[in-house]
This record gives sequence, structure tokens and C-alpha cells, in this order.
Amino acid sequence: MDRTAPAAHPIPDLIAARWSPRAFADRAVDTATLQSLLEAARWAASCFNDQPWHFIIARRDAEPEAFAALLSCLSPNNQAWCGHAPALALSVARTSFAHNGAPNRHAWHDVGQAAANMTLAAAALGLQLHQMAGFDATKARSLFGIPDGFDPIAAMAFGYPGDPVTLPEALATREVAPRSRHPIGSFTHLGAWGATERL
Ligand SMILES: Cc1cc2nc3c(=O)[nH]c(=O)nc-3n(C[C@H](O)[C@H](O)[C@H](O)COP(=O)(O)O)c2cc1C
Repeated sequence: MDRTAPAAHPIPDLIAARWSPRAFADRAVDTATLQSLLEAARWAASCFNDQPWHFIIARRDAEPEAFAALLSCLSPNNQAWCGHAPALALSVARTSFAHNGAPNRHAWHDVGQAAANMTLAAAALGLQLHQMAGFDATKARSLFGIPDGFDPIAAMAFGYPGDPVTLPEALATREVAPRSRHPIGSFTHLGAWGATERL
């Protein structure tokens, strides 16, 4: 199944290849592959090079109890497909700078950059990583003992893409629906705020 982004302008192949599947093949994510995804996260840029990202990782085969716990934190809609993912994760931000303890209002931005690196590394290695806002952060904090000063941000499911027919019908339809984006002119302010129509 080709889910390559139908880009309106040239973009790197790797960016076009990244997408968010819900169907995953029954193939485990080995430790070397997991290390590559986390190494990609590690090399993200961050404010003051503070590297405020943390990731709880739970593979279905290797960390089954953590997998069940993380799955239980997901919204019902996400649980409907994530139980078959080979791996789940939760991104967490340290919300103050390590060097002086001041609030880091870019922590969430930086964790997002690290997560984006993971998505691209996954795509480069033949996997895909699907991020999720639909989870119970309070429950995750409690089940995983996430301390004060750290903020659970996004859940993730990752692995090798699978056959959409393994999904419930409504999700299978979404899995093959055309991918779309707003045009670049709608969010680019060329020289002045509001000058959005010139690209
Ligand atoms: C922060 C964030 C939260 C998301 N939350 C969910 C979610 O809870 N459930 C879900 O199925 N997809 C979720 N998604 C996936 C988006 O729906 C998906 O990225 C978007 O539709 C674009 O599709 P693509 O990633 O295949 O290009 C989320 C994505 C991001 C980045």
C-alpha cells in the first residue's frame, strides 16, 4: 500500500514516506531498531541543548506488563487498534531547565522535535510511528510513577505497517483514505502577518 504524501512541491523522500498507520504487521521491534529510533530522538535540537525529552517504551513481546499498562491509558478509540501494535511509547517532557531550574516553555516544542525525529527514523527503517493525544495523562503518571516536573505529552504506537483488513471496518476505511493538508499559502505569512495568499 503506497501512502506516500502527494506533496505539491518537492520534499525529501523520507518526509513523504512517513505516515500514521493503525494496522501493524505481527513483527516485533528488535532492540537495535529501538536504539536507532531513540538515537534519532537524541539528536534533535533543543533550547539550551537541555534535551528535555523522556520516553517510556513498552514492547508487546519484551515488556508485556508495561505494554498492558500503557494500553490501558489510551482512549477507547485508540485501544481499538493499538492492542495489535508491536510497541507503544509515551513521550514526557521535563518542564524546567536542568541548568537553573527555570521553567522551560519550549520543552514541549523540543519533545515534539525529538518525536518527529523518531517518526522519520522509523520511516527510514521500514517502520512507522503513530502519535496519539488520546490517552489519560493522570493515569499514566500514576501507573508509571512519573514525578512532578515532568509532563506526559503524547502516546505512540510503532512497528512495521500491516494489512488494513486486520482493522475494524471504520478504521480500515480511514487507513486507505486520501492524505491531505492545507496549502502552504494558508499558513505562510510572506513578509507580514496576513500575507498568506502570495505563495
Ligand atoms: C500530537 C498528535 C496527536 C494525535 N492523536 C491521535 C490520536 O489520539 N489517535 C489517532 O488515531 N491519531 C492521532 N494522531 C495522528 C493524526 O491523526 C495524524 O498524524 C494526521 O491525521 C495526519 O496523518 P499522517 O500522520 O498519516 O500524515 C495524532 C497526531 C499527533 C501529531
